[in-house]
Formats: sequence, C-alpha cells, structure tokens
Amino acid sequence: MEFEALRQQCLACTRCPLCETRTHVVFGMGAPDAEVLFVGEGPGQNEDEQGLPFVGRSGKLLDQYLDAVDLSRASNVFIANIVKCRPPQNRDPLPEERAACMPWLKEQIALIRPKIVVCLGRIAAQQLIRPDFSVTREHGQFFEQEGVWYMATLHPAALLRNPRQKPDAFGDFVALRQKITEVCTHTYG
Ligand code: URA
Ligand code: SF4
Repeated sequence: MEFEALRQQCLACTRCPLCETRTHVVFGMGAPDAEVLFVGEGPGQNEDEQGLPFVGRSGKLLDQYLDAVDLSRASNVFIANIVKCRPPQNRDPLPEERAACMPWLKEQIALIRPKIVVCLGRIAAQQLIRPDFSVTREHGQFFEQEGVWYMATLHPAALLRNPRQKPDAFGDFVALRQKITEVCTHTYG
C-alpha cells in the first residue's frame, strides 16, 4: 500500500468506539521519507479540531525542541500518535483502543521505514518499547528492536506541567542528534 492510500483508509476508520466522538482522524504529518518518527499518545482538542498532530501548546514546545537539533515536521521528521482519534476528555487511550489502532501505526512504520522512533511519553513508550517502561528512569536511552532504534523522552505536555524536567528532555534531544549522525543518511542533508 502506498502512503496516500493508507491515509485515505485511516481517515475513514471505524475500528474502535473513538470514531463516534472524534471530529477528525489525526493520521500524522511530516516527511514520508523521514528517518526519524515521533510518536505521541493521541490527539487532544486542538488536534481533533484541526486534524493535525501536536498543534496546541505541547506542539509548540515540541517544535522548539525539534528546531534546537535541526529537525522539523516540514522537512525531516514524521509525527504520529498511538491512537488517531481523540479520547473524550483527553483520558488515556484504553488498551483495546490502542490495540485496535496499532495496525495503522505499524503500516506507517512499514512505509516510512524510520531508522529511529522517538516515543513521546509513557503511553507510546509502553506500547512500542516495553509494557513496564519507565520514562522517568529510562528516558534518553536507545533500544534496538528489529533493526530500528527506539528512544523515549518526556511528553511535552508533562514538560508544560513540570518545567523543571526541561533540561532532561533537552539532553534527550542532544542524544537524539548524536544517534542521527550515527545511523541516518539524509536527515541532516
Ligand atoms: N499530545 C499527543 O500525545 N499527541 C498529539 O498529537 C497532541 C498532544
Ligand atoms: Fe480507528 Fe484508531 Fe480512530 Fe479507533 S482511534 S477509530 S482504531 S483510527
């Protein structure tokens, strides 16, 4: 399947009950040939309204961290979420909703073929790295799975709530920049 076809199918998805309360499916955005894929938890209110990932306050902060290491959704990364539809009241997506939605992310990964996947926060890290993953203890560390490097960092929304964690997150992006220079071929031109 090709990327635009996958996107069109995903936009019509009714595999889980989140389809009943969503305004827009948030498929993701960025460079389809990105070597670095960022994965958040799920759309919030702004994302649901606009149909785009990370467009609210946490998105602004994420874009600042990306810019600090010469990354951007306009040129060299792709940004997606574990669930593509907003959970009501921004509650955590339920295990069955995550499971229902994972095939979309799997297909995105199969088409993009990223070298590095960065999990934004606990939900993505526990889904993609290990069910008992601790972001507090293990953020910034790289784990290889089937030839792809996975790393988790603090969710930007958590940084907005607790700005004292911002230096930790910045350190993760510096580690990411280093990893990109080691394993990527065209992210930095
Ligand atoms: N938080 C997320 O996890 N994903 C988004 O797209 C926006 C906020
Ligand atoms: Fe489909 Fe995922 Fe939306 Fe559920 S959250 S309806 S599985 S796109």
